[in-house]
Amino acid sequence: MNYRHAFHAGNFADLVKHAAVLAVLAQMTKAKAPVTVIDTHGGAGAYDLGSEMARKSGEAEAGIGRLMALPKVPEVYQPLVEAVRKLNGGKGLRLYPGSPRLVVEALRPGDHYMVCELRPDDFALLEQTLKGAKAKVTALMDDGYVMAAQRTPPTGPVLALIDPPFERADDYDRAATAALAMIHRNPGAVVMVWTPLKDLETFDGFLRRLEQVALPPTLVVEARLRPLTTPMRMNGCALVILNVPAELTEPLKQAAGWVVEALGEPGGEARVWSLA
Ligand SMILES: C[S@@+](CC[C@H](N)C(=O)[O-])C[C@H]1O[C@@H](n2cnc3c(N)ncnc32)[C@H](O)[C@@H]1O
Repeated sequence: MNYRHAFHAGNFADLVKHAAVLAVLAQMTKAKAPVTVIDTHGGAGAYDLGSEMARKSGEAEAGIGRLMALPKVPEVYQPLVEAVRKLNGGKGLRLYPGSPRLVVEALRPGDHYMVCELRPDDFALLEQTLKGAKAKVTALMDDGYVMAAQRTPPTGPVLALIDPPFERADDYDRAATAALAMIHRNPGAVVMVWTPLKDLETFDGFLRRLEQVALPPTLVVEARLRPLTTPMRMNGCALVILNVPAELTEPLKQAAGWVVEALGEPGGEARVWSLA
C-alpha cells in the first residue's frame, strides 16, 4: 500500500467529496434520530498542507487554496470553507480536514462514527484527529470493505463513504460489492462511493456492476477536468450516491460545476445524472 492521501488532501476531488458529505450530514442531523457514519477508508483524518508531501504535489494550492481565495465562495462550499477556517483557528490555510475530522465535527453526542484505516502510520494520525470527538467513535485498523458489509446497522439513518485509493485492481469491484451489501443490510442507507475518472470503460464497468441489482435513487456526479482520452491520467472524479436525498442534486451540480470551471481544461465538463 503506497498511497498516501497527504499528497492529494484538499485537491479538487476532495472538495467535491467533502462538500457532498457535509451536505448530507447537515440534512441528516436536522432530525432527532441518531446518525451512524461509516467511513471505510479514513486516511489520516487531517493534513498539514505545509508537509513535504502536500508541497510536492501542489494539489491543495490548486484546490482548497483557490476556493478559500474567492471573494464569494459558492454556497455549496460554504460549510467546507467554514470547517477549514475553524481547523486553522481563523488564521491562514495550514491544515486541511479529511473526512474523519469533517464528520466528527458535524456529528452530535449520541451519533456514531465508524472508520477504518489500514496503514499503521495514517491510523496513528487518525486516532489523534479523533481525540475529543463528541460522538461515539469506533476506529479500526482493519479492512473497511469488511466493516461495511458486517457492521452497517440494519435500521436508522446511515451515511457511508467508500473512498478507496484505487491502487489495487479489485478496488472497483470491492467498492461496488460493499455498497450493495450496505444497501442490502439497511435499505435506507445513503452510500457514497468516490472514484477517479480515467477512462469511460472502467467507470462504466463499475456502474454496470452496481446495476446488477435494483438500485434505490442513485445520482452520479462527474467532474471531468478534461476529456477522458488519456486513461493513464486522473482526468476527473466521480461520486456515485445511492439513496441520494433529492435536495442534493442542485448543490452537487454547483460543486462539480465550480471545480470544472475553475480548474478544468478545454473539453472539461460537469455531468450530474440519475443512474436509477
Ligand atoms: C483516499 S484515502 C481516504 C481519504 C479520506 N476518506 C478523506 O476523505 O479524507 C484512502 C485511504 O484508504 C486506506 N486503505 C487502503 N485500503 C484500505 C482498506 N481495504 N480498508 C481501509 N483502509 C484502506 C489508505 O491507506 C488510504 O489512507
